[in-house]
Amino acid sequence: MLSREENDLLTRTDAGTAAGKYFRRFWLPVLLPTEVPTPDCPPVRVRLLGEDLLAFRDTKGRVGLIDEFCAHRRASLFWGRNEECGLRCVYHGWKFDVNGTCVDMPNEPPEYGFGNKLRTTAYPTREYGGLIWAYMGPPEHEPELPKLEWARVADNQRYISKRFQETNYLQAIEGGIDSSHSNFLHASLDAFRVTDSYVEKVKNSGTLRAKYHLLDKAPRFTVKKTDYGVVIGVRRNAEEDRYYWRLTQFLLPSHTMIPYEKGLAIHGHCWVPRDDQTCWVWTISWNPEAPLSEEEWKTIRDETFVHAQVDPATFRPVRNKANQYLLDREKQRTANMTGIHGFASQDQAIQESMGPVVDRTRERLGTSDTAIIAARRLLLQEIRELGEGREPYTASHGDVYWVRSASLLLKRDVEFDEGARELTKAEV
Ligand code: FES
Ligand SMILES: [Fe+2]
Repeated sequence: MLSREENDLLTRTDAGTAAGKYFRRFWLPVLLPTEVPTPDCPPVRVRLLGEDLLAFRDTKGRVGLIDEFCAHRRASLFWGRNEECGLRCVYHGWKFDVNGTCVDMPNEPPEYGFGNKLRTTAYPTREYGGLIWAYMGPPEHEPELPKLEWARVADNQRYISKRFQETNYLQAIEGGIDSSHSNFLHASLDAFRVTDSYVEKVKNSGTLRAKYHLLDKAPRFTVKKTDYGVVIGVRRNAEEDRYYWRLTQFLLPSHTMIPYEKGLAIHGHCWVPRDDQTCWVWTISWNPEAPLSEEEWKTIRDETFVHAQVDPATFRPVRNKANQYLLDREKQRTANMTGIHGFASQDQAIQESMGPVVDRTRERLGTSDTAIIAARRLLLQEIRELGEGREPYTASHGDVYWVRSASLLLKRDVEFDEGARELTKAEV
């Protein structure tokens, strides 16, 4: 449970707010490169941290991210012409380059024009790891790009999808690190009921997850603070003297990694505030050792796991709030918990059902919420410290992101972070 003041502090990210200032200390994913594929292609609207911006790729291939509204009389530059290294407003012809400098003001005689001194809001961008990132904070605090493993593998070892979600970023993160929900929200009915035939099936399956995950529904949580955020150890009983551990990573300000099992792809998210009521969900699957396998591509295509199909123009998922996520009550009666297809849509449905900003003054948290409590506490601490003038350590230390999630069996007397030390190092 949080006080109303704490809930507001964590969930409000517009310019000038405390959490807004905090997010503006990090590089944030903003666009897939395919949204601005070629020089002088059409500009695209970008809403981020409550700001309406416009992205365009100029003649030299540089990506600009500027105020959507013209500095002259606030017409939308969405209608503008992207031409010769700048975006020209079609109302009176003022033209802005990727740095936000007004480079042409054709309706003013030269002696009255502001020359090259007039600027509009512009944020630096970088192309990195299959995405375009932006930094919206003070230039003197420009951070390092996070050395995330998925950003450094070859393009054919990675798949990234983007979707629009109608919730504040924080309840999306909370879903991402909430390890106990998958036994319910994402379970088939056989798994939920632990039927004999199900137990027989998983016994013979090769993965740890299938074998142990669903057999212990009340796991124990341990959270440890790290340089990059927190690592969340979730312990389930395995046979004899061992525990099955699943380690989820939460990396500041809003990256998460689902427990990785060696040999399979790793999956992670970055949850970026669009405004206080909506967020962008970036979902990344990567294989650190090899190109994504045909089986991994099939999972992506079939939308069974973390990726969901979206409208390519708006990034709104095909299964969305307006169509009740294509909920099938018959499927819910006979096949799975939700009657909704795919983990991503199940997560989105349940997170959006809580309202755009969940009222955290009315929660009743249990031990299974340990990770959520720790992540909130850490974010609150970081936001408050920045307010007192202390810059976030992670923002200026890109190397600390060089980690993986993990899952493994450990002897019962071994500390999980010690036992998983080698496995949680990224390798690429
Ligand atoms: S409003 Fe853009 S040039 Fe006048
Ligand atoms: Fe989930």
